[in-house]
Amino acid sequence: MVEGLPLVSCLCPTYGRPQILREAIWSFLQQDYPNKELMIVNDHDQPVCLDRAYPGVFVHNLPERLANLGEKRNHTVRLARGEILLNWDDDDLYLPWRITDSVRRLWPNPEKWAFKATRAWSSTNNKRYHIARNLFHAQIAMRRSLFDQVGWYAALNSGQDMEFEARIPKERWLQYQATPSELLYVYRWGNGVAHISGFGRDREGKATGWDLMAERTRKPAGGVITPGFDRDHWQDLLDEAAGLPDVDAAELFALTRRLEPYHSLGDGAYLTDWDPERFAFAGQAELETIFGRNFTMMMNNEAKFLAYLATKAPDGGCFVEIGSRSGKSAGYLARMAANRGLGPLQSIDLWDLAPPRWQGTETVEKFLERMERLGLREQVTVLKGDSRVMGAAWQKPISLLFIDGDHSYEGARADYELFSPHIIPGGIIAFHDYCHNHFPDVRRVVRDVVLPSGLWSDPYELRDHNGIWCARKRGESV
Ligand SMILES: C[S@@+](CC[C@H](N)C(=O)[O-])C[C@H]1O[C@@H](n2cnc3c(N)ncnc32)[C@H](O)[C@@H]1O
Repeated sequence: MVEGLPLVSCLCPTYGRPQILREAIWSFLQQDYPNKELMIVNDHDQPVCLDRAYPGVFVHNLPERLANLGEKRNHTVRLARGEILLNWDDDDLYLPWRITDSVRRLWPNPEKWAFKATRAWSSTNNKRYHIARNLFHAQIAMRRSLFDQVGWYAALNSGQDMEFEARIPKERWLQYQATPSELLYVYRWGNGVAHISGFGRDREGKATGWDLMAERTRKPAGGVITPGFDRDHWQDLLDEAAGLPDVDAAELFALTRRLEPYHSLGDGAYLTDWDPERFAFAGQAELETIFGRNFTMMMNNEAKFLAYLATKAPDGGCFVEIGSRSGKSAGYLARMAANRGLGPLQSIDLWDLAPPRWQGTETVEKFLERMERLGLREQVTVLKGDSRVMGAAWQKPISLLFIDGDHSYEGARADYELFSPHIIPGGIIAFHDYCHNHFPDVRRVVRDVVLPSGLWSDPYELRDHNGIWCARKRGESV
């Protein structure tokens, strides 16, 4: 348990549909509940795997197909470790508060074994959202002990869910009529994948939905998955909710505020021409000679992405980096500032004055020597000291701010709050280590403080290695 919060296992049986599964995983990764796991069980003969490790996401590829959906659900429950179990259908979407809200309702009521909101969003072809009375097993939350009380799923395909739910005594159900801004789940129909229920009930002598699914699986049925949304579903939901008779203005406002930190995470409309293979710039070869090795703190692709971001920053401000260390990111940023005829990069670091966590063999002398070799010595202003002290006295307008200094919640937040007000409209903010498992506080600052501020547009997440999250300041670009 994390500070009294139970571990929640999200149960995701899947079969040969990696393209849609990536969206279900993304919807899990957006959840604001900390103590969670996603248990994916794939019994298609083509395995799926993730492009890298994601916290709490487990993929089990089985060597053989299981006999029916009931058995597959039972298998998934057996693998799960949580005290609360939530179904997580691979072709549906879950609002980012789904786990938190379900736990908040079910956990304090030990006499209740299962929870459902009585309504849910429903969409067709990723459009045409409306609020439906909830019949969906996909949004049930269950205590693990429920399985001891009522037994396991029956050996059925279509209908295993209803048969199971019918065994839960009425008085053990907790049901809640959620308002539009509280709905937890989006049932999806017509997004290119077959539903077992769509094939009708199992009948003696007839091919079951289970068999027909195998025949109708599209290619590719397996492969490497990068979690993400194919389109901005939360924006679609907001757009459509605005026109619905059962969503009043107050509810629409509440829904918009709740979704604001999450929608369009990852699409970065102005960064669509990012292509690490093709992006090239003057001075790149020298940088690659000195920094060609993938330094663990700054990988080659990330440094190159920073250089690319620098091409998108507006004129009218300087580039600032908090956390320069070896000078890899500094070299790329200073090079781009020089190429664009902007002033010197402002490089802030404590170097040998840093707390033990950052101590190593890097020094300001080594940093300067590398800049010298790159011919960038005049293109870097070295500011040795604590970024919080510098930030409190900062005056210069900034067109690109790269935060890679103190990675604690307080430290990253202070860097953001002290420096970002100096970013000019259209200017870029970027945080390093957004996906790094050792630095969850960087993600927290972005999700709790940066995004909800409403000051930023076009957020984008480079999901390479340690990860870079970036966005543009709203307002007229200068
Ligand atoms: C992850 S490293 C930066 C890596 C660098 N961007 C690169 O490309 O090599 C983090 C750096 O932040 C510095 N740092 C940590 N806390 C700081 C603070 N409060 N003020 C200034 N620098 C700080 C550390 O000294 C360390 O060198």
